[in-house]
Amino acid sequence: MRMYDIIMKKRNGFELTKEEIEFFVKGYTAGSIPDYQASALMMAVFFKKMTKKETLYLTLAMKNSGDVLDLSGIKGIKVDKHSTGGVGDKTSLTLTPLVASLGIIVAKMSGRGLGHTGGTIDKLESFKGFSTAISTEQFIKNVNEIGIAIMGQTKNLAPADKKLYALRDVTATVDNMSLIASSIMSKKLAAGADAIVLDVKCGSGAFMKTYDDALALATEMVDIGNNAGKKTIAVISDMDQPLGCCVGNALEVKEAIETLKGNGPEDFKKLCMTLGAQMLIAGEKCGDEEEAYEKLEEAISSGKALDKLASFVKAQGGDESAVYNTDLLPKASITEEILLDEEGYVKHIACDEVGISSLMLGGGRETLDSVIDLSVGIEILKKKGDKVGKGEPIAIIHANDKDKLKAASERLKKAYEITPEKVEKEALIKNIIK
Ligand code: URA
Repeated sequence: MRMYDIIMKKRNGFELTKEEIEFFVKGYTAGSIPDYQASALMMAVFFKKMTKKETLYLTLAMKNSGDVLDLSGIKGIKVDKHSTGGVGDKTSLTLTPLVASLGIIVAKMSGRGLGHTGGTIDKLESFKGFSTAISTEQFIKNVNEIGIAIMGQTKNLAPADKKLYALRDVTATVDNMSLIASSIMSKKLAAGADAIVLDVKCGSGAFMKTYDDALALATEMVDIGNNAGKKTIAVISDMDQPLGCCVGNALEVKEAIETLKGNGPEDFKKLCMTLGAQMLIAGEKCGDEEEAYEKLEEAISSGKALDKLASFVKAQGGDESAVYNTDLLPKASITEEILLDEEGYVKHIACDEVGISSLMLGGGRETLDSVIDLSVGIEILKKKGDKVGKGEPIAIIHANDKDKLKAASERLKKAYEITPEKVEKEALIKNIIK
């Protein structure tokens, strides 16, 4: 078999066989297939797409490209959660300690930022000393002791996805349904949880721009998970504007903490409650959604969920005092209010552009080896449907570099569309697929 022929076959729009997909995954993981051929195949898949069968074969080949975690040493139902990625999506930071404080066993594998979207690991590194590079033994020990641990994708867990994820990030081949479904599900299946709750984003800040595409992705992932014997549920949520009000690593950590204190933005809290309820039900801690919501509210008002975040941060080497005093998180040296020339109502926010603006400030990666600045980002003051009066800022930029600030603020301004007419707000939760 030759990689050249496989690229040509996909480029010409034909369905690849299981053997061809396995040949590619094995060869790329081992290093015998170079990045440039893998990039060419990813671009061919982007344009010609993959069938359901090809997507399944790619998922299984990537899952089997390394270790499959055995979490049988952890008692109880392990529930994993994963988002398809969005702008301002700090959900795992709030949700995982929230459900862990209610007895859900969180043994989670997270990723770094991808494209214009942020990643949980980068955000968690805002806690001084925090590390997700822990051994499987430490991971299992932490889960057994405090009920929650998050680790980075170990070198040997779905290593094919680890390489491809980084390659797709810099070759404009992220937003393809089959590549996203196989990337997420290969890791989730290899990570050994018993149940999986997926947050599938749709809108201008998501990889899936339309509801129909998000529904197709959700259905594909739920099918893959259920066929592999894992109870899988997908919530389809709006990402046509940033989630909550903060975009950027440390800013998002602060917002996640505020939400655990009961002071978070409504939309973000709603998403955490919806996903949390599904996790509690999947983990058999609650019979129905009503009971789940009550328990989630109590975990926030009692401070139990916030304390769980502090124990989790401490157990992974981080400075847990920042959970109680967010002034200890990284802070940018410059803040600037952003004003528009127009007045009216916010009609649309090109959400991916907000993500790119934050990336331009240094909050995300431009290349494979970029070092990110955890302190920079954007506070969104005006969201869809909000009125923008004369002289009212739409956002505050947090930056450390004047040139980057200028470029990012120009880009951010263009992301906003203002209209004189009143605008309806979008529903945040679009559907739940079981
Ligand atoms: N998240 C992933 O893990 N993989 C993707 O391809 C996109 C989002």
